[in-house]
Amino acid sequence: MLYKMEIRPERPEEYARVEQIHTLAFGGPQEALVVALVRRSPFYRPELSLVAVVEGEPVGHILFSEVGLQDKTGMMRKVVVLAPLAVHPAFQNLGAGKHLVEAGLARLEALGAPLVLVRGHAHYYPRFGFVPSEQLGIRPPFAIAPHEYMAKPLSAYTPECRGIVRYPAAFAEVGYPVEYGL
Ligand SMILES: CC(C)(COP(=O)(O)OP(=O)(O)OC[C@H]1O[C@@H](n2cnc3c(N)ncnc32)[C@H](O)[C@@H]1OP(=O)(O)O)[C@@H](O)C(=O)NCCC(=O)NCCS
Repeated sequence: MLYKMEIRPERPEEYARVEQIHTLAFGGPQEALVVALVRRSPFYRPELSLVAVVEGEPVGHILFSEVGLQDKTGMMRKVVVLAPLAVHPAFQNLGAGKHLVEAGLARLEALGAPLVLVRGHAHYYPRFGFVPSEQLGIRPPFAIAPHEYMAKPLSAYTPECRGIVRYPAAFAEVGYPVEYGL
């Protein structure tokens, strides 16, 4: 079946539906909690919290928000993380995830963001230009297989963007150490 899909920022009246999408797609509440906590934090950018809408109803959601990148001199840069992304199980493999990632990356490029980070499937994200972050000298603050933590440099990227990623408090919900914005 062919669907007409619109990508746009989420609306407050859609928060419950977005929560449902994450809970179903991930099989648990943690990612939905991260979304709720980021929304209440200074790192939330409403224009970077996007939904894929089919016939008026969100079927997928992607959140981009600010995290820190600390270099070896201790300097902290603002970068962006893609987390989480989920598509309702009934609508997976129909391009919603692809459209959400591409729309978000286009917005970030227009905003002049240097870099986007993601923890995720090594089969999925390279098609959008993500490479293992270690190739750019970037490490997450937890142990993970190198190909599962990726970065996509945008036009504003410069090689000084390197170091250890520092997450804000919302990400404690998914077990990350939190060391940013405290
Ligand atoms: C992963 C996910 C966001 C992809 O979105 P989608 O709209 O279903 O996928 P698209 O239509 O954009 O792309 C389809 C591709 O995604 C791949 N894909 C779908 N689910 C996947 C998964 N769980 N792991 C790896 N790849 C997956 C498909 O194999 C397909 O690959 P192909 O193009 O090489 O055949 C979605 O399936 C989902 O919500 N999964 C559960 C939650 C999750 O894992 N989120 C991502 C965390 S990084």
